[in-house]
Amino acid sequence: MKNNKVLVTGGAGYIGSHTVVELLNANYEVVVVDNLANSEISAIENISKITGKKFPFIQADTCDLASLRKIFEAHEFGSVIHFAAYKAVGESVEEPLKYYQNNLMSFINVIALMKEFKRANVIFSSSATVYGDADEQPVTEQTPLKPANSPYGRTKQICEDILKDSVKACEGLNGIILRYFNPVGAHPSALIGELPRGVPNNLLPFITQTAAGIRPCLKVFGKDYDTPDGTCIRDFIDVVDLAKAHICALERLLSFSGGQNCEIYNVGTGKGVSVQELIDTFESANNIKLNYVYADRRSGDVPEVWADPSKAKRELGWQSQTPLCQTLKNAWAWQKNISSIK
Ligand code: NAD
Ligand code: WQD
Repeated sequence: MKNNKVLVTGGAGYIGSHTVVELLNANYEVVVVDNLANSEISAIENISKITGKKFPFIQADTCDLASLRKIFEAHEFGSVIHFAAYKAVGESVEEPLKYYQNNLMSFINVIALMKEFKRANVIFSSSATVYGDADEQPVTEQTPLKPANSPYGRTKQICEDILKDSVKACEGLNGIILRYFNPVGAHPSALIGELPRGVPNNLLPFITQTAAGIRPCLKVFGKDYDTPDGTCIRDFIDVVDLAKAHICALERLLSFSGGQNCEIYNVGTGKGVSVQELIDTFESANNIKLNYVYADRRSGDVPEVWADPSKAKRELGWQSQTPLCQTLKNAWAWQKNISSIK
């Protein structure tokens, strides 16, 4: 019989919480571990409000092998979805060891215990950042990886190698690497969403905080790129669509009869959208005038990157569904909810 129990590390975070909702909706049993380093316990409560379901939540650090072993001993999940990591690119340049320590150790611990306890399936959260400044767009899973632009990006490249090598060496282990492009938006209930601490690094939370009056003005980093409107191009993927990609990946892992499969999938829309277009769509979708100025380029930014997601469509049966304007309405509804704006 299929083991439909899943351990979700980092499940109180932005993408993790949306994925837990989709797992519960699809009748998976879920155990969440998170140390709340970058999330709030309210996310766990709100997942239960959205789904009407309760599930075990353990506040623990996945870098702490002894605590993680107790979770493996107590719960007979067959699969792990591993989100637990730090993700602030700029901070990773300032404090590389913090990133190498957390992002590598937590994943090594997960894989080591999966091997010890003979747990079969793991999904790893990777990132489009592994492509660096690719020579051609859109990027496919075969596009050669360039040196990462940050220690954060390097942790993703290293973890991908850790997984590939471990699957090769461990009978019974299967892995899927999902390379997320730019996750944006929030659950349509406005009960869960992104909770940046301090000044947001990412574009959409900066936009919604500017619209909410928390930030006086958005800086558009670079208007002189070699793109149609001069601003950078990204592939903005709705967070609920992204969460659903994990269900499709899990179904595929559970369909394997043996082990030692390791696969990689791009998770994006397949459409490049410029920073300017994102701002314009946010304004029109929400009937808001945003205060923004053009500023210098931000160091480390690639001019453009978007996904070829056809492999995910072909092999996982997954594709993005939510129109960008709906995603941007959901993001604004979430921001208004957490800022108590009517
Ligand atoms: P997030 O910070 O909202 O969620 C990560 C969660 O992991 C947080 O709740 C945090 O408290 C927890 N965590 C971190 N270290 C931990 C540890 N040692 N032990 C236990 N819990 C720990 O980030 P997110 O945006 O939801 O990202 C989830 C994953 O997806 C990360 O691996 C991230 O690198 C990756 N990713 C994110 C993006 C993005 O733009 N958001 C893009 C590509 C890949
Ligand atoms: C998008 C565009 C900025 C803020 C990062 C990580 C990547 C992945 C997703 C984790 C860029 C511009 C931004 C602002 C702006 N995360 N911008 N003003 O850099 O594509 O990707 O998040 O894996 O690894 O690198 O996302 O949202 O920071 O920026 O003009 O205040 O918006 O210059 O062109 P990015 P982002």
